[in-house]
Amino acid sequence: MRAFLPFMLRAGLTALVAANTACAQVAPQMANAGVKPNIVIVATGGTIAGAGATTANSATYQAAKVPVDKLIAGIPELNDVANVRGEQTFQIASESFTNDRLLQLGKRVSALVKEPGVDGVVVTHGTDTLEETSFFLNLVVHTDKPIVVVGSMRPGTAMSADGMLNLYNAVVLAGTPSARGKGVLVEMNDDILTGRDAAKRINIKTNAFASAWGPLGMVVENKVYWFRAPVKRHTMQSEFDIDMLTTLPEVQIVYGSGNMAVEMYDAAVKAGAKAIINAGVGNGSVPNYAVDTLKKIRAGGVHVVRSSRVADGFVIRNSEQPDDQYDWVVAHDLNPQKAKILAALALTRTNSTAELQRMFWEY
Ligand code: DGL
Repeated sequence: MRAFLPFMLRAGLTALVAANTACAQVAPQMANAGVKPNIVIVATGGTIAGAGATTANSATYQAAKVPVDKLIAGIPELNDVANVRGEQTFQIASESFTNDRLLQLGKRVSALVKEPGVDGVVVTHGTDTLEETSFFLNLVVHTDKPIVVVGSMRPGTAMSADGMLNLYNAVVLAGTPSARGKGVLVEMNDDILTGRDAAKRINIKTNAFASAWGPLGMVVENKVYWFRAPVKRHTMQSEFDIDMLTTLPEVQIVYGSGNMAVEMYDAAVKAGAKAIINAGVGNGSVPNYAVDTLKKIRAGGVHVVRSSRVADGFVIRNSEQPDDQYDWVVAHDLNPQKAKILAALALTRTNSTAELQRMFWEY
């Protein structure tokens, strides 16, 4: 594989020439006309590395089977848009991710983006917990280089498999200068989503991923089209730093419904949770028969964060539930699984409810 020469050195002149002619980011951004960026694909497993018994098996297959070098070899078009090399960090289905895996992956990505010869990183990942990983990386990796997380809903062995084009588009995006400084991105089904908002909303279709606030743009035929930019803190503006982290505090989610068993909250505390994410009904609501349990838990030093089981919208503080009085936090628009990631990181820096709430407003 050709040595990775510092891309910025080679691209400098091109950028100067381009700057004289190009519009702002509103024009379709070619990956890098004439100068190929150096992109590292960090593979972790998932369906994008899956294999089924027949081409008709689009939903029945084994995830995490195909090694990264075989994924790359299967898409020769990658060489048209970037100098690509692969690393196999894990080979697992993403439902099996743990905090240790998140930390290990984050540290590897952080090390790669520090290398002058690396211009962008693509992370291939199972779709089941892709949204947690993309948000985590968005919060802890201090870089403005593009980091693009990508997966697929069908194994590469299936008819109309989506992984090849998703991975190709992810490499195009990771090699596009206008993708710098936008935080961690998710590339699925031609859409560009923020690592913060991207969520798996359908479990069996190729248009599985979306954001409640819409995509940032699209990648179509090797061109990147932007329509909006993130406004929440991320990457270079984040107070969380993967290089300073060795463990993550335990945080657990309790799913809300009618006729809840309040013992579920106690079980989370017994499991070592330092914060409980209430995936509440509606506006993240807690049933009246559970309030005393949660007040006792809060008095015991465990934080309570009200998120919602409802896909869209955001939890409003002090509306139906007196959060100030109960010393609770609201998760804003973050779904329970993303709130869990932010709460764990927040607790590495503070135990103050006010500080936790600030972080949920800002990230
Ligand atoms: N086991 C699931 C995972 O690894 C497969 C789903 C997928 O990757 O699309 O997340």
